[in-house]
Amino acid sequence: MHFPGSVRSLILVGFMGSGKSSVGREIARRCELRFLDTDSVIRQKYGKSIGEIFAVYGEPAFREEEHQVLLGLRSARRFVLATGGGIVLEARNRAILRSLGPVVWLTADEETIWQRVSRNQHRPLLQTADPRLTIRNLIETRYPLYRETAHITVETSHLSHQEVANRILLAVRNWSADRDEGRH
Ligand code: S3P
Repeated sequence: MHFPGSVRSLILVGFMGSGKSSVGREIARRCELRFLDTDSVIRQKYGKSIGEIFAVYGEPAFREEEHQVLLGLRSARRFVLATGGGIVLEARNRAILRSLGPVVWLTADEETIWQRVSRNQHRPLLQTADPRLTIRNLIETRYPLYRETAHITVETSHLSHQEVANRILLAVRNWSADRDEGRH
């Protein structure tokens, strides 16, 4: 399948558990694009898990690595990028993300996020006494940032990865047609 219109790369942002990596991999496969994931790039560079990187070097070092990954992509083409849930925290990242291609925010309600992330104990930010409350607080501060960064929003609660991929491709096609006709 060809990627829609004149779009050359696609960026996925969203909270932990919103399905960015699984859906991104699916879209890359269908459209014959390279799949990249900021967490994987950083994991490979350090030869450590994200949890270990947070524990040994601290969150600020991890955030700097995220920024470096984005800087390195400025001249790249034909990729689907899944990003870590905190990448939108820095204004400098939000600007680069929007320049790389259409940014799609995969959103989900709090209950769905909770169901998805509680299956996996590896996320350092959720190693708290009350991870459900942590999620609620992070959602409150981050959803406005995802909204501000994204060109397109796709609601993913109750949908399979295949369905989310279908919706993204349709939305990107419409977005790109509107852009080519000068509507935004
Ligand atoms: C983080 C999300 C994680 C990972 C790190 C920090 C965050 O990625 O980058 O644990 O700040 O929300 P996922 O969104 O892929 O879980």
